[in-house]
Amino acid sequence: MEPKILYPHPILNKKFGLGDDYPILSDQDIDGIIEDYIKAAVLAQKAGFHFVDIKHCHGYLGHEFLSAYDREGKYGGSFENRTRFLREIVAGIKAAAPGLEIGVRMSIFDWVPFQKGPEETGVPAQGDPYRYAFGGAESGILADLSESFLFLQELEKLNIELLCTTAGSPYYNPHIQRPALFPPSDGYQPPEDPLHGVARQIQATAQIKKAFPGLYVIGSAYSYLQEWLPNVGQEVLRTGKADSIGFGRMVLSYPDMPADILSGQGLKRAKICRTFSDCTTAPRNGMISGCFPLDPLYKKMAEYDQLKALKGE
Ligand SMILES: Cc1cc2nc3c(=O)[nH]c(=O)nc-3n(C[C@H](O)[C@H](O)[C@H](O)COP(=O)(O)O)c2cc1C
Ligand code: SF4
Repeated sequence: MEPKILYPHPILNKKFGLGDDYPILSDQDIDGIIEDYIKAAVLAQKAGFHFVDIKHCHGYLGHEFLSAYDREGKYGGSFENRTRFLREIVAGIKAAAPGLEIGVRMSIFDWVPFQKGPEETGVPAQGDPYRYAFGGAESGILADLSESFLFLQELEKLNIELLCTTAGSPYYNPHIQRPALFPPSDGYQPPEDPLHGVARQIQATAQIKKAFPGLYVIGSAYSYLQEWLPNVGQEVLRTGKADSIGFGRMVLSYPDMPADILSGQGLKRAKICRTFSDCTTAPRNGMISGCFPLDPLYKKMAEYDQLKALKGE
């Protein structure tokens, strides 16, 4: 790995083996990256896509800007500077690819990174105050959506209408991002009943939908609900807590679940995602991703044996 970072992060630099003096991207580097985003959007439009997602989630670049409080220069510090990346990409796409729609996937709240504690259960890697959780309180383990709301106002100003909500990061606090009973091999045991994680995202998404009724909002993190995903999804839609139910892991194990729900023919139990996390453990170890335990195509691959060996099975 050769990470490119926007600012030295007190916990993540250590976690990923980067010294405190690891170089950060310069403003000029960032200007070049913005140009690349615009070129990619032009290509996407030429290839026939109707919209592109300017991702602001999961600790990736767009999301990292939002917490670049300590960064100097035009991309860090003030809220205006931390959202400049978004505005410049949108302006560039509108000029170079007119008619191409834009959506944003956003970690609407973040928490402090977690690590293995006693009996491998996840614990915060640092006590409060923690300053780098965008949409998070200083305790590091609660949401504070005030800046998230400001970000959504920016989307409205830019006429962006499509929002997919998610939370945290799969790399440093996966239990809030992707509630699961079984962690990936580099993870920690869930510090809470994963249902809390599902509920937390549903509630935060509902707050956003209520405050921004004009946004088309797709929620996430429903897969842990398993058999009950359709029931909860129905309630979320009927009560206006979101406009659409997004599928993550369930789409790998059971891509035709939506068709089976809508046809009323009942679910196929053997295909329901049980949150084993093999689809995450595999790519973390250089293998392709897929639902190895449940999808017959992946089940017969040599990678599945490699995975089992990795997990000591
Ligand atoms: C194997 C795998 C790959 C993923 N890749 C992406 C990705 O490229 N971009 C993204 O925004 N989210 C990605 N996610 C996160 C999911 O979109 C989703 O937010 C998360 O899995 C929680 O939803 P779920 O409970 O339905 O799985 C990925 C998740 C998994 C398990
Ligand atoms: S490997 Fe399959 S069952 Fe396990 S979490 Fe991924 S999709 Fe779900």
